[in-house]
Amino acid sequence: MTTNCATTSDSDSTTTKRICRPFLKWAGGKGQLLGQLGKRVPASYNRYIEPFLGGGALYFSLQPKTAYLSDLNPDLINCFEVVRSHLPALIEELKTYRYDRDMYYAVRALDREPGFAQTSPISRAARFIYLNKTCFNGLFRVNSKGHFNVPFGAYKDPTILDITNLTACGEALKSAILKTGTFEDVVEIAEEGDFVYFDPPYAPASNTADFTQYVSGGFDESCQEVLLLTCLKLHQKGVKWMLSNSNTPIIQELYRGFKVETVEAGRSINSRADKRGPVLELIVRNY
Ligand SMILES: C[S@@+](CC[C@H](N)C(=O)[O-])C[C@H]1O[C@@H](n2cnc3c(N)ncnc32)[C@H](O)[C@@H]1O
Repeated sequence: MTTNCATTSDSDSTTTKRICRPFLKWAGGKGQLLGQLGKRVPASYNRYIEPFLGGGALYFSLQPKTAYLSDLNPDLINCFEVVRSHLPALIEELKTYRYDRDMYYAVRALDREPGFAQTSPISRAARFIYLNKTCFNGLFRVNSKGHFNVPFGAYKDPTILDITNLTACGEALKSAILKTGTFEDVVEIAEEGDFVYFDPPYAPASNTADFTQYVSGGFDESCQEVLLLTCLKLHQKGVKWMLSNSNTPIIQELYRGFKVETVEAGRSINSRADKRGPVLELIVRNY
């Protein structure tokens, strides 16, 4: 497996693949772990289920025939829906954006305005992609009022609109079900023979080290425990699952009854240059 998709079918569960990669930069995106993850995906399964979708790196790499994709972030899911179902209109809107500090802060400020809730899904998706491509490190962070508050990012010439990749992603998403919701919902959705890939916000390696705040409320240790319970319920139902997480004693301990492997991966989302570079991560499976 490579970061870009192959052009032919390589499993019962995948269809003919287009060359595509995530259309968003996403903190914790799994681009650099695809080789390690891909070789551990079951050779065949019924539905592919991914409840911490983010940028969807593994989904776009595998392009399974049938998929249920979800995330707690409604703006993210709206963006995926628009890429799938309203791409020409989205492209037209994206053509109006430029990499410019004043424009960035004007667009960022739109969610402070009273009428923002009435903005069309297409315009919201265009704004989301624009901010994602031009903000600092592609972070997604909102304040307590739900206002996006990531500063402008310094880039040479960021690509705001990549029509070829957006089109390939839209095609790859055509048959996927997209939902906003919490990961716990998968217990009701997944059935025997399905495969679930969990990529939660990582357990921090220290109190200050890692980025886990994609949605208000964050993802604390109690969430990691609820995730384990979810995995146990799926195991009892005969659902195969794979989980990636940080290599911490807490996660090692939580999953000690399952197959826990340590793998090397580059992690790029850290504001401190000395913290960037290869780190060890965990891949856990129940098969
Ligand atoms: C590590 S990222 C996923 C990255 C993704 N695998 C990729 O390749 O880009 C974790 C995602 O979990 C989502 N999330 C956080 N809490 C959640 C919850 N309780 N239920 C579902 N999704 C949640 C975040 O919005 C974020 O997109």
